[in-house]
Amino acid sequence: MTAKKITQVTAFAGKGGAGKTTCAAATALYYSSQGQKTLAISTDATPSLAHIFATAAGHEAVRVTANLYFSEIGAEEARHLWDGKFGRDVYRVFSSLVDIGYAEFVDFMASMLPGLAEEFMVDYIRELAEENCYDAIVWDTAPLGQTLALLGTPALLTKHLRMAPRIYTSLKTGRGTKESILNIIGRWEALSAADMSFLRQGVDFNIVAIAEALAVNQLDGIFAELDKYKFKVSRLIINNVVKQADSAFLREKSAQQEGYLELMRSKYAKLLVTELPLFPHEVRGLEKIGQIASLLY
Ligand SMILES: Nc1ncnc2c1ncn2[C@@H]1O[C@H](COP(=O)(O)OP(=O)(O)OP(=O)(O)O)[C@@H](O)[C@H]1O
Ligand SMILES: [Mg+2]
Repeated sequence: MTAKKITQVTAFAGKGGAGKTTCAAATALYYSSQGQKTLAISTDATPSLAHIFATAAGHEAVRVTANLYFSEIGAEEARHLWDGKFGRDVYRVFSSLVDIGYAEFVDFMASMLPGLAEEFMVDYIRELAEENCYDAIVWDTAPLGQTLALLGTPALLTKHLRMAPRIYTSLKTGRGTKESILNIIGRWEALSAADMSFLRQGVDFNIVAIAEALAVNQLDGIFAELDKYKFKVSRLIINNVVKQADSAFLREKSAQQEGYLELMRSKYAKLLVTELPLFPHEVRGLEKIGQIASLLY
């Protein structure tokens, strides 16, 4: 049996400020220039794709060029997604136990499970990939840690609930609700499993780093985490590399980067390692993004 074809997703992950959005925008521009209908999508709480494409922001896909679209989904959109999929069901169960309004309940859930929003963002991207409306999807991610932790939450909940059957029987909620609790958690668990398998099979991760102690140290953690969940990492992009050290300032900066560059080149030799130069200007607008694209591809 062949698996259903889904749109390949290229994700950009890494430390804050390393250049994830820049590389994601450049990659999306590249795919679109190859004739692929491409969506660049950001799940960052403070998205910057609109800024970098130098256009108006949009939660619905905004068209940048003939083949290139982008959308930014923040916490608010994720909350809608949760609302649509589970919020009301879970609330129905909860509100039979405690007296709580829906809005208050959603706030409570979001603060109790900080990765909740992220899970529904992953789920949203999975659905987009399965819908096959685009030829390529480029995903500008927020830090992944919370998402990954959350994907295991439903399984944990189920385990705990199964271990405590007496709690249900002592609740004054009747049999129907007891079953629905398990059903709802079961559905959530299935959703998490589908999202996890999508992250494993449908997403190609690119890590963006810079040649500085903190960033290099954090790389180990990022790779260990992606490895633990068996996600595919194909490329390491080292950004902001000083290529023309023609001043005392840049010579010092370059000398400092050299050690970290050596270390990364040898340590991650099994990956495609690409270095991007530090530009004197910020990278904004299609022309500048195109410059990065031609260095990456
Ligand atoms: N090679 C480069 N040379 C000069 N400036 C760069 C380069 N790459 C990125 N920048 C600039 O650095 C800033 C941060 O880049 P970017 O927004 O892509 O990082 P990020 O990893 O997405 O950050 P965040 O974690 O905040 O989302 C931007 O202003 C961008 O224009
Ligand atoms: Mg960013």
